[in-house]
Amino acid sequence: MSTTTQDNPPPSGRNQNGLFRTKSVEQSLLDTHEPEHALKRSLSALDLTVFGVGVIIGTGIFVLTGTVAKNNAGPAVALAFVAAGVVCGLAALCYAELASTVPVAGSAYTFSFATLGELPAWIIGWDLVLEFALGTAVVAVGWSGYVRSLMDNAGWHLPQALSGTSDANGFGFDLLAFLLVLLLTGVLVLGMKLSARVTSVVVAIKLAVVLLVIIAGAFFIKSENYKPFIPKSQGSVTQSGLKAPLIQEMFGYAPTSFGVQGIFTAAAVVFFAFIGFDIVATAAEETKNPQRDMPRGILGSLFICTALYVAVSVVVTGMQKYTQLSVDAPLADAFKATGHPWYAGVISFGAAVGLTTVCMILLLGQTRVFFAMSRDGLIPRFFSRVHPQFRTPYRSTVLLGVLIAVIAGFTSISELAALVNIGTLFAFVLVAVGVTILRRTRPDLPRSFRTPWVPVLPIASVCASLWLMLNLPSETWVRFAVWMVIGVVVYFLYGRQHSRMNDTARMNDAG
Ligand code: ALA
Repeated sequence: MSTTTQDNPPPSGRNQNGLFRTKSVEQSLLDTHEPEHALKRSLSALDLTVFGVGVIIGTGIFVLTGTVAKNNAGPAVALAFVAAGVVCGLAALCYAELASTVPVAGSAYTFSFATLGELPAWIIGWDLVLEFALGTAVVAVGWSGYVRSLMDNAGWHLPQALSGTSDANGFGFDLLAFLLVLLLTGVLVLGMKLSARVTSVVVAIKLAVVLLVIIAGAFFIKSENYKPFIPKSQGSVTQSGLKAPLIQEMFGYAPTSFGVQGIFTAAAVVFFAFIGFDIVATAAEETKNPQRDMPRGILGSLFICTALYVAVSVVVTGMQKYTQLSVDAPLADAFKATGHPWYAGVISFGAAVGLTTVCMILLLGQTRVFFAMSRDGLIPRFFSRVHPQFRTPYRSTVLLGVLIAVIAGFTSISELAALVNIGTLFAFVLVAVGVTILRRTRPDLPRSFRTPWVPVLPIASVCASLWLMLNLPSETWVRFAVWMVIGVVVYFLYGRQHSRMNDTARMNDAG
């Protein structure tokens, strides 16, 4: 596979006219020094961990815990979090190596350009656009729900037409979600440092609320709520046909909920709760010492969140029978159910505040991937010019921010989350493959963090991610396939002709 030599690597990788032409790691690093396309380096390991926790804890734990406990796993939702956490842990070990080797903006997109080639990199970049854009929209809509619930407590009611779309109430424009995304877009345009400072305060509030749930809630646990811990599997009409997990369709199982299979179905959903640690890697180019701080930031934030999720889900399913949990605000409502509405109010407030940072960082990750793709010419270069004063990629930030605000205004949460998950898991697969390939093609590169047990661990990561993907509904696979086909068409109509790799190929031909 390799055509590079260790002593004298070429400016870009093998097969420079082909679909699998790679951009060398050196070239990726060089691009970050172009003054008009360079981001400011201001983040430390602590900033990155705060950044990670800031985006990781969100709609997943605050909203989805109740839904999956009720519909798929019962109290065993805690095991679903463990399963999803293990899948993410394996992927994180791969992400950390690539992030410390290729410390430039764009996350898995940049990594795969340096390892797998231009077309796979485009595919993964396109995939990440889906993950982050829809993820931002999902969280904005979740945030809006919590804010409306707080407003309702205070006696202020938004008209239904401005309260978003839901199965129960039909269509409505989600004004609050729309405004939130626009506001955060403005914050991001003004600069990374401001965003990180705002994030720190909000993350502290969010963590305090999560700890409040765990510590205060522990006093209200009733052991009979844990019986049965893993409810018996039972037939399911809500999960039949295209709505059933693909794995059930593939093997012709009758659709079921609960039981051991239910834990994996739940894991594929609550996986959303872990999305975000990969976004830490998108900030590599803005990190002071990425070689050392990236792995610390990624693994640290993932570890903290996994521990908190397991604790929260054990406490909440112990406070209230899983069949009774609410699907809108399960953490707050569990306190109401035990006769403590004051706690419920505080939790709702903290959740609303906390979801703000999740939304902002997803939006940030999105703009950085778009920025990297634009800098490579796969998307018009117009979008990767940074602002002369704020040093932020303001054009892509504004374009995507407005687009996502509109999506958040007009869509409901439920099915979008599954689409976000499948896109993210697919990126995990490519990153794990990338680690293995880069070890072979560029063993010489300095790696401050090395994934242990290569290739066994990356292979395990690929299998684990694919397993969760198979536990997502068939209709999610269909939607994902449609999005990816559109991406490939865009690549052949635009990206391939405009890629900066063409310049490199021409220079090499002339030389
Ligand atoms: N992990 C983030 C959340 O749960 C995306 O909202």
